[in-house]
Amino acid sequence: MQEQDNTPFVDFQDVWLAYNEELLRANHFAVEAIDLQVKRGEFIAIVGPSGCGKSTFMKLTTGLRMPSMGKIRIDGEPVTGPLKISGMAFQAPSLLPWRTTVDNVLLPLEIVEPYRSTFKAKRKEYVERARRLLQKVGLGGYEDKFPWQLSGGMQQRASICRALIHEPKMLLLDEPFGALDAFTREELWCILRDLWTEQQFNVILVTHDLRESVFLADTVYVMSKSPGRFVVKREIDLPRPRELEITYTKEFTDIVLELRSHIGAIRSQGAASTATAIPQ
Ligand SMILES: Nc1ncnc2c1ncn2[C@@H]1O[C@H](COP(=O)(O)OP(=O)(O)OP(=O)(O)O)[C@@H](O)[C@H]1O
Ligand SMILES: [Mg+2]
Repeated sequence: MQEQDNTPFVDFQDVWLAYNEELLRANHFAVEAIDLQVKRGEFIAIVGPSGCGKSTFMKLTTGLRMPSMGKIRIDGEPVTGPLKISGMAFQAPSLLPWRTTVDNVLLPLEIVEPYRSTFKAKRKEYVERARRLLQKVGLGGYEDKFPWQLSGGMQQRASICRALIHEPKMLLLDEPFGALDAFTREELWCILRDLWTEQQFNVILVTHDLRESVFLADTVYVMSKSPGRFVVKREIDLPRPRELEITYTKEFTDIVLELRSHIGAIRSQGAASTATAIPQ
């Protein structure tokens, strides 16, 4: 309808990044020739071998690094520095040990405008918001505990709440569930699915877990080894809402196997002498 609706939310146009001048002179790029358009509200996952440039892509997306060449626009605006409209969570939960769970979740509101300047006046309202979010991810009753009193899965839930408390338009997750056991991980998939379904922010999820990528994402991108390039785009046309049972269907495992064969091919190209098939 409106022109705005067709504008990609994330728009990379032929983006290259060398980490410093010396590497640039040597034509040594961490990521190269990235062309990528992500729709508003789309959930994308990025998979690829270690060191291929996934975290580098995240740094470019949030403006923590500027490209050596090419253009990046987020939400229609050129990226010129660190973005406020994103929330991030990483593999290690990185909660501050001296703050309670609810105070950890409140942290972005103390730092990011427009919340920062009203934080003192609106503290009560913000605490309520944090408590509601914690309750939604099953942490009701743990709001006033310290991180060291929580399990790894609980800490990671709190980190996701912290990444979402300022209602970002974009959530970046760099292997957020990597350190968790399979059961907890699947629980968190569902929590993330529900938050995303409700709030419709964009998600960029970096993961090594192909099942995770297929269960959660609308589109999975496979990156090749250094220099990092996006080599496969796979749209996941499984119907939503997706329940965990879908992961046992043939339709689902066929997509996982297809992605696995792409990664197997990349790995054997990248390290011919040590190439091994991906186990099972
Ligand atoms: N600050 C930096 N300075 C120079 N080179 C860097 C820097 N950070 C990353 N690199 C290089 O850029 C390439 C991509 O790294 P990146 O961290 O993006 O990989 P990744 O795909 O996230 O890997 P992993 O799966 O292990 O997290 C690697 O060759 C890495 O050595
Ligand atoms: Mg990384």
